[in-house]
Parts: sequence; C-alpha cells; structure tokens
Amino acid sequence: MAAPDPFLPQPWRVERRRRELIGAVTLELAPLAGERPDFLPGQFNMLYVFGVGEVAISLSGDAERGTAFVHTVRNVGAVSGALTRLEVGASIGVRGPFGSGWPLAEAEGADVLLVAGGLGLAPLRPAVYALLARRERYGRVVIMVGSRSPEDILYRRELEHWRRRSDLEVLLTVDHADADWRGHVGVVPALIPHAGLDPVETLALVCGPEVMMRFTANALLAAGIRPERIHLSMERNMKCAVAQCGHCQFGPFFVCREGPVLRYDRIAGILAVPEI
Ligand SMILES: Cc1cc2nc3c(=O)[nH]c(=O)nc-3n(C[C@H](O)[C@H](O)[C@H](O)COP(=O)(O)OP(=O)(O)OC[C@H]3O[C@@H](n4cnc5c(N)ncnc54)[C@H](O)[C@@H]3O)c2cc1C
Ligand code: FES
Repeated sequence: MAAPDPFLPQPWRVERRRRELIGAVTLELAPLAGERPDFLPGQFNMLYVFGVGEVAISLSGDAERGTAFVHTVRNVGAVSGALTRLEVGASIGVRGPFGSGWPLAEAEGADVLLVAGGLGLAPLRPAVYALLARRERYGRVVIMVGSRSPEDILYRRELEHWRRRSDLEVLLTVDHADADWRGHVGVVPALIPHAGLDPVETLALVCGPEVMMRFTANALLAAGIRPERIHLSMERNMKCAVAQCGHCQFGPFFVCREGPVLRYDRIAGILAVPEI
C-alpha cells in the first residue's frame, strides 16, 4: 500500500502496551483509517503525542506479519516520556515510515552479524525476523547484545527463544553482572574476537549508542571485516524527517533520508569528529 502524505500525521490508536524495562515500553499501534503501510526493517516513524511533540522512533516489529506498527520507546525526555505513559485506547499521530533499511538483499549468501547495544536491539529486531523468514538464503546468523545489567536486557524472553534455535547464535554480555548471571561480562565489542567470524563472508549490522558503534566498528575492522561490509544505524534529532529542515544533518548526509542505516566507509571520517 502507498505511504500517506509524509507531512501529515495520521491518527493511530494504541492497541497494546507492554512494559519492557524500567522506563521502556513497546506500543502496538493500529491505524484509525486504512491499513498499515509497508515498511523495511531499519526504518523509523515520527510519533506525535498531541500537545507534547513529535519524535523519531524505529519500527521494531515484523515487517511481513501483523497489521500494527510496533515501537519500543525509552523515556528520556518530554515526548518519549509521554509515549511511554500512553494507555491502550489513546490516539497519537504517525508519519512514516521514513529512511533507509538494513541491506538484507546484499546480505544474501553472507554470514550476518547483528550487534546491538541496549535499545539498539529494537531497530535490529525486524532484521532478525526477515533473516529468519528466508533463513536458507544466509550463512551464519550471529546476534550480539550488550546491556548495562541483566535487568536491562531488552526482549529477554525472545532472546532466550532465539538462543535455543540451532540456526541462530546469540551472545549476550552485560556491563555489570549480578550473582545469577552466568554469561559474559564486559562491553559488546569484546565479544567480536571470540565469535570465530570469517571476515570475508561477514556483513555486520550495528545499532546502539554512538560511542558503542564506534568501538564496535573498530573491533570489526580489527577482525578483518571490510568497512563497506559494516552498516550502522545513526540517530540524530529529527524534525521534518523528509530532508527539508536540516536538523538531522550529519556531515553531507541527512540522516532522515540517506540514513538511519549508513555504510561505515561513507561515514567513518565524520563519525570520529566530536559533536558533528
Ligand atoms: C532514526 C531514529 C530512530 C530512533 N529510534 C528510537 C527507538 O526505537 N526508541 C527510542 O526510545 N528512541 C529512539 N530514537 C531516539 C528518540 O527519537 C529520542 O530519544 C527522542 O527524540 C527524545 O525526545 P524527547 O522529547 O523525549 O527528549 P528530549 O527532551 O528532546 O531529549 C532528551 C535526551 O535525549 C537526547 N536526544 C533527543 N533526541 C535525540 C535523538 N534523536 N537521538 C539521540 N539523542 C536524542 C537529548 O540530547 C537529551 O539528552 C530514535 C531516533 C532516531 C533519529
Ligand atoms: S529531519 Fe529535517 S532534514 Fe532530516
């Protein structure tokens, strides 16, 4: 189905609300008119809480199943906080989907490594669903997730489920363990040398805080993965989401249009520049 007017928020209703972590919820949104537009794993919507404001939030559900837009939101300020407090039945405005998706067609025939830091797993989750839907087209699929502590692991039950599958490898690490934690402790890039990756075969998809992505990219390069096979999802403040206002400018790129998924070799130079 064709996407609606990109400037005009459409009314959507909160159908389901699930608390994920302290301060983070997953909202399932249904359109008040028409059908859910198609989206690509890696894209985002602009969610507008009436009277509060509008923010960019990634799509975190299965692009090929369901009739809802699924979004996982962390309360960091006015608008995201208002989103996390919405109850079932509330209406919000939705514009989108916007931006580039993960390069899943390019990944066909390759081993795929997904590296998530914290809430960065949300935009990667649709990529996992898409890889599983056509599992035979890919080589190894390795998912690495870094969280602050065991209580901060997003989608924990689903990760456990994925971990039991023989066609996925899931590695979890936490910055700070508790007495019950039996897994890795430390930052997520430290897992990379232990994954036995074939650098020529591997394509990497990375999402998390910018500092985590910088260290992850360095660890991937040190493992021999070429810069053009590393893809990062960048976050920048968004206003228009249609490459008109300049709020999301990142060097020569408008992240709302060329991103959020950008190839590392195209952004390596500017990623290293503070405050760009
Ligand atoms: C493409 C994209 C996808 C995103 N996906 C998600 C998602 O799936 N879930 C989610 O919870 N958040 C996501 N974000 C981040 C979300 O848009 C910001 O957290 C939100 O804009 C904060 O707005 P606020 O009014 O609640 O907070 P504000 O009061 O505006 O800011 C609170 C804090 O967040 C920082 N901040 C504000 N906007 C951004 C931004 N765009 N990127 C990074 N830091 C920001 C501010 O500097 C400040 O420290 C995404 C952002 C982008 C650009
Ligand atoms: S958000 Fe306006 S140019 Fe990207």
